[in-house]
Amino acid sequence: MQVTSKYNTEVVKWFVVMACIYFVIGTGVGVYIASELAWPILNFDNPYISFGRLRPVHTNTVIYGFGGSVLMATAYYVVQRTCNVKLWSDKMAWFTFWGWNLYVIGAFITLPLGLTQGKEYAELEWPLDIVLTATWLAYSFNFMMTLHHRKVSHIYVANWFFLAMMIMFTYLHVVNSLAIPVALFKSYSIFAGVQDAMIQWWWGHNAIGFYLTAGFLGIMYYFVPKQANRPVYSYRLSVIHFWALIFGYVWLGAHHLQYTALPDWTGSLGAAISLAMIIPSWGGAINGMFTLSGAWDKLRTDYILRFLIVSLAFYAMSTFEGPVMASKTVNALSHYTDWTIGHVHSGALGWVAMVSIGALYHMVERLWDTRMYSIQLVNAHFWLATIGTAIYITAMWVAGIMQGLMWRAYDSYGNLAYTFVESVEQMHPYYAIRVVGGFIFFLGACVMLFNVLMTIVHAVKVTNLENEQHFSNKSENYAHIKAGEK
Ligand code: HEM
Ligand code: HEM
Repeated sequence: MQVTSKYNTEVVKWFVVMACIYFVIGTGVGVYIASELAWPILNFDNPYISFGRLRPVHTNTVIYGFGGSVLMATAYYVVQRTCNVKLWSDKMAWFTFWGWNLYVIGAFITLPLGLTQGKEYAELEWPLDIVLTATWLAYSFNFMMTLHHRKVSHIYVANWFFLAMMIMFTYLHVVNSLAIPVALFKSYSIFAGVQDAMIQWWWGHNAIGFYLTAGFLGIMYYFVPKQANRPVYSYRLSVIHFWALIFGYVWLGAHHLQYTALPDWTGSLGAAISLAMIIPSWGGAINGMFTLSGAWDKLRTDYILRFLIVSLAFYAMSTFEGPVMASKTVNALSHYTDWTIGHVHSGALGWVAMVSIGALYHMVERLWDTRMYSIQLVNAHFWLATIGTAIYITAMWVAGIMQGLMWRAYDSYGNLAYTFVESVEQMHPYYAIRVVGGFIFFLGACVMLFNVLMTIVHAVKVTNLENEQHFSNKSENYAHIKAGEK
């Protein structure tokens, strides 16, 4: 029989389904643009599908479509369960669902048409910026009001991370997107020159720090202990992790602008604080992993837990790599190269996507009160995702370091040893290998979508059957009573 949940699960379910759909689309477009870099003929001289226009379609779909749907699903799911209360406003939750999808669909339409503000991760023009802001504010307000009405005195650490993300993302997005509209789909940023660059990367890095990291750490702090069925290793460490991360992250942006027109000290500050960020990041990763202390054997059988733990290994790896790349010496080599792309995807595929996948599988089983349609397919997905990520990032590391070394090589006369185009030529095999890795990862996303949809269809069928049985039993009872009455 269908049980009415004491929580609002409908909106969470829809965000879960949309996350899986955007995951397939976003990684599919990723594979296509990766193929365009390897085989430029795939641009077909068609501006709408050219690399330059599809690249932001990829980033917006994976970051906002997939990542955003995961963040909304998990924050709504976690806040209700940890506060033992229903969402404050169901209507507002549905508003966020429609608003968020409108934004992502707006990206699908406007970006191929070439309508863009040209600011990375904030490309969409001002009307869509307003949609994003209104949706995000509704999401944050609903979350905060739910917290306010909680039935337990304590606010679990996962909610702190979600809250920090919500506040900082609002602040960063609104300031960075301040612009003067001159037409329906054209505006000019109020910042110019070096200030524009500084504001852009203050936003850019904190979008990574608060949205792609803090939000997903909120996910980690709830779903790792839940899936492992053990308390978090150290609650005290999680609080230190939280404050150190929140205090440190906002100072990092300038590491994206080393050796530019920015004052030199800003880059040094960015590099120094980046280095310090290893401490909280590793503290968090260790805290998550040690939650499994004494129960490591669970990894042998629990495929969902594998995603969550491997994501922490990638989190540790990318938060070690990031500070190294932030140092001026290494950045002189890595900047403008594919090493950055390798770093991005070790964070994005290894950390953000893996922790999301683990959380999505966990939620699907609980929201539809069932087991996954095929646990073997979850296992297959795990291997496709891990192997795909490993191939992708290794290819980019080799490509990036080779690019950096070729660009700075001199011959004995002091001339550059290679022309730029020679370095581009050398990239071809690595770009092709990336397509293979990306395609394997994309296959995993397709397997996930199939498995999740089949799980839902089966769960709904079982529920309908149970309902039918319940009602036919009821009518039999009535018949019996009526017969008795006669
Ligand atoms: C099948 C998987 C994927 C493939 C094949 C892929 C491919 C690509 C390619 C080819 C680029 C452009 C690189 C360049 O400009 O040189 C890119 C950029 C990017 N991708 Fe992906 N991607 C995938 C998955 C993801 C996921 C899941 C995320 C996030 C959760 C993500 C986030 C990004 C970001 C943030 C950038 C911009 C990087 C920068 O500007 O430095 N990607 N991706
Ligand atoms: C302590 C942690 C981290 C530090 C200090 C750090 C540092 C850096 C540095 C130095 C760059 C290259 C800047 C450049 O030369 O242009 C970079 C790029 C990037 N990182 Fe990280 N990183 C960290 C963690 C992460 C994580 C966990 C992710 C997760 C997705 C991530 C995503 C990105 C992205 C998307 C870019 C490319 C930005 C762009 O150029 O479009 N980073 N990071």
